[in-house]
Amino acid sequence: MLLKDRVAIVTGGAKGMGRAIAQRFAGEGAKVTVADIDVPAAEETVRAIRRTGGEALAFECDVTDGRQIREMVAATVAAFGKLDILVNNAGAVVGAHGRPTNLTALSEDAWDRVIALNLKGVFLCSKEAVPYMKANGYGKIINMSSLGAINPPSPHPHYHAAKAGVLGLTYDMAAELAKDNIYVNAIMPGPFRTPFFGEIVEDKTSEEAEAFFASVGSNAPLGRMGRPEEMAGPALFLASEMSSYVTGIVLPVTGGLPLPVQR
Ligand SMILES: NC(=O)c1ccc[n+]([C@@H]2O[C@H](COP(=O)([O-])OP(=O)(O)OC[C@H]3O[C@@H](n4cnc5c(N)ncnc54)[C@H](O)[C@@H]3O)[C@@H](O)[C@H]2O)c1
Repeated sequence: MLLKDRVAIVTGGAKGMGRAIAQRFAGEGAKVTVADIDVPAAEETVRAIRRTGGEALAFECDVTDGRQIREMVAATVAAFGKLDILVNNAGAVVGAHGRPTNLTALSEDAWDRVIALNLKGVFLCSKEAVPYMKANGYGKIINMSSLGAINPPSPHPHYHAAKAGVLGLTYDMAAELAKDNIYVNAIMPGPFRTPFFGEIVEDKTSEEAEAFFASVGSNAPLGRMGRPEEMAGPALFLASEMSSYVTGIVLPVTGGLPLPVQR
C-alpha cells in the first residue's frame, strides 16, 4: 500500500489517464476525489473504486473556475480530513482536436479557452491546494504536460504553449515549495489511447479509427499508443515515497518518443 492514509485529488479523473490514476491510487490506499466536468463518468470512476473496496468522492468541478475549485478542495478536506496529493490532469484541445489550427487560423477566443483549461487550471488548483498541504506539512503535486510542449506533432499553438507553460509553472512551484516539503513534478505523456481523441474518431468507422490509432502508435519506438493504466505507475512513483528525493522533474512517458524510429 504505497499511498496508505493519503488523500488525493485527481482533476479530469472521470476518464482516460485520470481515471486510471484515480483507480490505482485508491488501490494503493489513498482516498480520492475525482474532480471533473463530466459528472456521470466521474461517478462511474468512483463506483469502480468502491467495487474494489476503495474510498472515493465524485465532485463536479471545472478547473477554469476558481469558485468551483475552492468548493471541491474544501469538500475533499471536509470528507477526508486533509490533502496530500494533487494530480493536475484535466486537459484537452477544446473544440479543435484533429483539426490542426495554425497561428493564422487560431482565434483569440480559442487561445483563451485552451490556455484557461490547460495552464490556468493548473495554477488555480495548485493555489487552492497548497495552503492545505502547508498546514499538513507535506504535499505532492503532479502536473500533466505533453510531449507536444517540446515536440509538437501538429499545429496547435495554444495547446502546446499551455503545456510548455505547465513545465515553467512546475519548475517555479518546485523551487518555491520544497522548503514546505511539497514536491512538484510534471509528466510528459506521449500518445495515449483515451477519450482525448474522441473528436478525431467520432466520424470514423471502427476500422478507420483502429487504423488511425495504429498509425499514431507506429510513430513511437515501442510501436503502439499507451494504455491509460500505463500512466498509473509513473504517477504513483511521483505521488509516493518512491520519489522522496525527486522534485522539479519532467518525466516523459512516451513509448520512446522523441527517439527517431526510422533506422
Ligand atoms: N491522450 C494523449 O495522447 C495525451 C498526450 C499528451 C498529454 N495529454 C494530457 O494528459 C491529460 C489526460 O489526458 P487524457 O488523454 O486522459 O484525456 P481524456 O480526454 O481521456 O480525459 C480528460 C478528462 O478531463 C476532463 N475535463 C475536461 N475539461 C475539464 C475541465 N474544464 N475541468 C475539469 N475536468 C475537465 C474530461 O471530462 C475528462 O474526464 C490531459 O491534460 C491531456 O492534455 C494527453
